[in-house]
Amino acid sequence: MNYANRDRQNFKTRVDLRSDTVTQPCEGMKNAMMSAPLGDDVYGDDPSVNFLEEKVAKLFNKEAALLVSSGTQSNLCAMLSHCQRGEEILTGDHYHVFVDEAGGASVLGGVMFAPLATQDNGAVLIEEIKEKIKPDNEHYPISRMLSLENTHQGNVLNVNEIKKMANCGKDNGLSIHLDGARIMNAITKLRIEPKKIVESIDSVSLCLSKGLGTPAGSVLSGSKDFIKRARRIRKLLGGGLRQAGILAAAGIYALDNNVERMADDHRNAIRLAEQLNDISRIKVDLDKVQTNMVFIEFENGIAPKFRNFMEQKGILLGADWNNVIRLVTHLNCQKADVDLFASEAKSFFE
Ligand SMILES: Cc1ncc(COP(=O)(O)O)c(C=O)c1O
Repeated sequence: MNYANRDRQNFKTRVDLRSDTVTQPCEGMKNAMMSAPLGDDVYGDDPSVNFLEEKVAKLFNKEAALLVSSGTQSNLCAMLSHCQRGEEILTGDHYHVFVDEAGGASVLGGVMFAPLATQDNGAVLIEEIKEKIKPDNEHYPISRMLSLENTHQGNVLNVNEIKKMANCGKDNGLSIHLDGARIMNAITKLRIEPKKIVESIDSVSLCLSKGLGTPAGSVLSGSKDFIKRARRIRKLLGGGLRQAGILAAAGIYALDNNVERMADDHRNAIRLAEQLNDISRIKVDLDKVQTNMVFIEFENGIAPKFRNFMEQKGILLGADWNNVIRLVTHLNCQKADVDLFASEAKSFFE
């Protein structure tokens, strides 16, 4: 049965800027997957998984790592490994773990969230971390963990900014997790060694299926004890996969081939932002285009019409809220795609 085109929209997608998760594995990645040595990872004997886990642990200078199926599962394994029922996680009120992961830590683990105001640069304030940490009092949940995010909506936090927040949490007895779904974008932008940015962090989650371009998978890193607990949680969540080396091989390929090229995504995002900013009825804050995301703002009521117009042209846009639409560049989006997007956007206003 030929099902290749069964579920595609009835128009041809020309440019897809919904997210960096829409990429297709390239031939090199597929070949790596096809030829990966495999075993049963629940028994711990898949050589490709073991190799990837060691590679990522080494990259971040942590003792161990664990391949899981998604960023959400990785963050959830982290939260449930750091925290027990009746404890709480301090995190940004716009961070993914708080708004976009179905409240997993609370639903499944009896763990509360204490949201902190996310700042424009993607950080949370030291004063607010201190203020929100609960005193040891039977009326309160026990503050146990601080969960940070980098990049956040394309914004990069540098080593010092991360360190300040992490140290504040640590000084107050919290475990520190970093949702680094797009940490490789931050690392590419800052041109630093990966281990530097997570020096002050206890656990870090890295997504392989965003800018790195694999079909699935995330890797959680931390201490040996932490990863042992996370492995148990992964099993509990139904996330123990068998011949997972087929995915691990894609991850190994991605880390070897797709990190440096992220600079192209960042250049394309700026190219797109500059062209769109030339259109008088679109507003773009160019300072906020730091990695692969561009947020474009419209006058009231225009965004849905713009989306509809672009979709008719085979151009897909990311999520929108309050008249702002998110556009994300990635490895299946070239300069020409960005230029096509900008010229169709211009034609909408003509
Ligand atoms: C910052 C961040 N963290 C975590 C995730 C969750 O990743 P996944 O979709 O693989 O569950 C996402 C997904 O977009 C994300 O943007």
